[in-house]
Amino acid sequence: MSASISDVDDYVIRAIRADEWPAVKRLRLDALRDPVAHLAFLESYEEAAAKPDSFWQDRAGGAAEGALGVRQVIAEASDGDWAGTVTVLIEEAGTTDWAGLPVGRKQGHVVGVFVRPEHRGNGLIKALFDAGLEWAWGRGAERVRLLVHEDNGRAQAAYRKAGFVPSGVTVAFVHDAGQRELEFVLERA
Ligand SMILES: CC(C)(COP(=O)(O)OP(=O)(O)OC[C@H]1O[C@@H](n2cnc3c(N)ncnc32)[C@H](O)[C@@H]1OP(=O)(O)O)[C@@H](O)C(=O)NCCC(=O)NCCS
Repeated sequence: MSASISDVDDYVIRAIRADEWPAVKRLRLDALRDPVAHLAFLESYEEAAAKPDSFWQDRAGGAAEGALGVRQVIAEASDGDWAGTVTVLIEEAGTTDWAGLPVGRKQGHVVGVFVRPEHRGNGLIKALFDAGLEWAWGRGAERVRLLVHEDNGRAQAAYRKAGFVPSGVTVAFVHDAGQRELEFVLERA
C-alpha cells in the first residue's frame, strides 16, 4: 500500500467487472467501518458482512461494465488496490423513488460514495464523479442527484467541489426521523 498518492493520474478509473465481486465486497465492508459510516451508509457492517457470496456476485454483476441500469466505478491504485468508488443508478421518469417521491425526469442517483482515508484530499473523488456522470449522461440522464446527511460536512464539501448544489429537497434520515438527508443535484450542461 502506498503511503500517499497525490496524483489523480496514478489511478485507473473504470467500471467494475462481474468477476471482481470479492473486491466489491472488501471495499464495501471497509467503507462500512469508516467513522462516519453511520451517517454515510444505510446498512451496518454486520448486516453486510452476513450476506452470502451470491449477494455480492449479483451486486457486482448488476453494476458491471455493460449493465444498463447501474454502474459502479472504482479507482484502482498503482498497486492494484481499490482506492475509492461511486455507484450510479438510473431512475426513469414516471417512476417513484424509494422515498415515495415521483421521478419527474430521467436521472442518475449516486450511492455508495467512498474513498479510502489514505487516498482522500487529492481530487480522486472528482475523477470518480466525472466517470459516473459521463456514464449517466450517456444513458440519457437529465440530472444526477444524491442524498447526503446534514451532518456529513466533508462529503457535502466534496460534492459542491464536484459541481453539485442543494436542491432544497430533504428526506428524513432512515435511522432517525429527527435528522435530515439533503438532496444535492447536478443538472446536465
Ligand atoms: C466523502 C468522500 C468520498 C470525499 O472525498 P475526499 O477526498 O475526502 O474529499 P475532498 O478532500 O476532495 O473534499 C472534502 C473537502 O471538505 C473539507 N472538509 C474536511 N472535513 C470537513 C468537515 N468536517 N466539514 C466541512 N468540510 C470538511 C476538506 O478540507 C475538503 O475541502 P478542500 O479541498 O477545500 O480542502 C470521503 O471523505 C469519504 O469516503 N468519506 C467517508 C464516506 C462518506 O462520507 N461518503 C459519503 C456518503 S453521502
